[in-house]
Amino acid sequence: MAEVEVERRSGAARLQDAGALADRFVDNIETVVHGKRPEIQLVLAALACGGHVLFEDVPGTAKTVLARAIAQSIEGATPARIQCTPDLQPTDVTGLSVFDQRVRDFEFRPGPIFANVVLVDEVNRAMPKTQSALLEAMAERQVTVDGVTRQLPDPFLLLATENPIEHEGTFPLPEAQLDRFFLKTALGYPGEEEELRIIYDQRDGHPLKHLAPVVTVQEVQRLQDAVADVYVDPLVGRWIVQLVRATREHEHVAIGASVRGSLALERAVRAWALLSGRDYVTPADVEELFLPVLGHRLVFTPSALAEARRLGWTQALADFRRDCLRIAPPPALLDDEPLS
Ligand SMILES: Nc1ncnc2c1ncn2[C@@H]1O[C@H](COP(=O)(O)OP(=O)(O)O)[C@@H](O)[C@H]1O
Ligand SMILES: [Mg+2]
Repeated sequence: MAEVEVERRSGAARLQDAGALADRFVDNIETVVHGKRPEIQLVLAALACGGHVLFEDVPGTAKTVLARAIAQSIEGATPARIQCTPDLQPTDVTGLSVFDQRVRDFEFRPGPIFANVVLVDEVNRAMPKTQSALLEAMAERQVTVDGVTRQLPDPFLLLATENPIEHEGTFPLPEAQLDRFFLKTALGYPGEEEELRIIYDQRDGHPLKHLAPVVTVQEVQRLQDAVADVYVDPLVGRWIVQLVRATREHEHVAIGASVRGSLALERAVRAWALLSGRDYVTPADVEELFLPVLGHRLVFTPSALAEARRLGWTQALADFRRDCLRIAPPPALLDDEPLS
């Protein structure tokens, strides 16, 4: 009994610590990325789950600034940026062994993927061979070159961008690859007040120049560990599964979200709750994260795609979410529903 009590209390203390450091982390990033707290929280939720993020976004919405701000907020963390082009080779990402004349031996030159926060710009412009090397490294957190496997640093967060405007001459990521991204989101334009603040902020250079670290690598690991301590009510847990199953039943969907989708949603909502300063998940968390976690894991039917193009993707996805919530209503509402 006493042991259980101690364990419970230390779990609560761990959660409290993690909540405080998450706050510090988000606050620090918010000093350089304005008006995007939920989006920052979402990206840090991915980091807390060891997942990676895909941005489908217009240019100039602070994605580069966000990636650098995350790296600069973590003491000793290294940032890297990879610009994808059709001639980018897998070894340009992973690194390669080169022969060193002096020591008459091969020496490994690590590629840009060996960094803590990696921004991969315009991932859909890379040829499939390079995309798969990139995404394999991302998912496995290791790189194998010339038969030698090397671990990527920890923490490791990859943020990839796709440009929604110009799809011409690009290689769209195959569905199986998309599933490797923990979530997909966008930063989008700031509001008028925020945009005004941005121009004032940058009169004497970019505020990133002065952004100091606020968390250590060990603290990021603690944040990751604390995700496991966040409470999910069994009814909410079951509902998550029902929601994911609803994506498979929907008439507009050819292939619904996989079990990987259920796993991701259950973890994501725990991290999201933690970053929202709570030690338990609410149904609202699940509704909030449904599209960022599951949206990119679905394959819609050709007729649904045509309809989505007509309606606009935002509307089509919102409608889709509404339908899934109708098929699998949140547990808190079950009491009010007539039994049928
Ligand atoms: N919400 C925002 N908060 C702070 N700065 C912003 C925001 N949106 C855009 N900017 C500014 O716009 C410029 C372009 O941002 P950048 O990160 O290079 O865009 P992206 O990588 O998304 O194309 C930067 O100076 C950045 O600070
Ligand atoms: Mg950029």
